[in-house]
Amino acid sequence: MTAPDLDEFGICDGISETIVTTMKGWSPNAAPIGIIRKGDRIFIRLFKGSTTYHNVQSEGFLVANVVNDPVILVRSTFSNLNQADFNFANVGGREVPILNKALSWVVFEYLDMKVTEETLVAELKLIHAHVNRCTVKAPNRGYNAVLEAAVHATRYRISGDEKYLKLIRAYSAIVSKCGGEQEKNAISILHEYMDK
Ligand SMILES: Cc1cc2nc3c(=O)[nH]c(=O)nc-3n(C[C@H](O)[C@H](O)[C@H](O)COP(=O)(O)O)c2cc1C
Repeated sequence: MTAPDLDEFGICDGISETIVTTMKGWSPNAAPIGIIRKGDRIFIRLFKGSTTYHNVQSEGFLVANVVNDPVILVRSTFSNLNQADFNFANVGGREVPILNKALSWVVFEYLDMKVTEETLVAELKLIHAHVNRCTVKAPNRGYNAVLEAAVHATRYRISGDEKYLKLIRAYSAIVSKCGGEQEKNAISILHEYMDK
């Protein structure tokens, strides 16, 4: 049987910003993680210290969820999601956590894993892929700006470098100009987390 074409599940060449769901025992976890695709090869690079980093090492799989909901993106960056945000699917006899709001989801196992002092790089092997729904939506600068602001917020959290606050302010201005209600709600949640 030939492997499904990942393009059809929204994971294309380059880095796809997905929300990765993993398990620790009975608890599901979600976090934004880039899926790196170079032709037919697929990788993830995880920074030491996150729950995802630990779960990937202790469990044999991860699920990459393609999501276009900016609020889920921000909430999963700063905290874990609620149980109600997750669903479970049986894949090859194993219950895997998926996000209710996923447009598509792809289950991966690992071909190879290299752990260094700072990071873990794993090459992924596709096990199962599923499309929940296809939506047509023009690119929205507000959504992209929420994504960028969330990335800079995680960098600020690690380094404390004030340059990231400046970038977050610039991206927040784009959200105010171009975002819809969801993007504006997401950026204000991001600011609430930053103020904590
Ligand atoms: C859009 C986006 C992409 C991210 N990509 C990665 C990544 O590829 N690897 C990584 O280690 N962290 C990445 N992060 C940071 C993690 O999502 C963040 O550290 C998160 O809090 C980890 O949550 P966890 O502790 O529940 O795993 C990304 C964050 C954002 C907003």
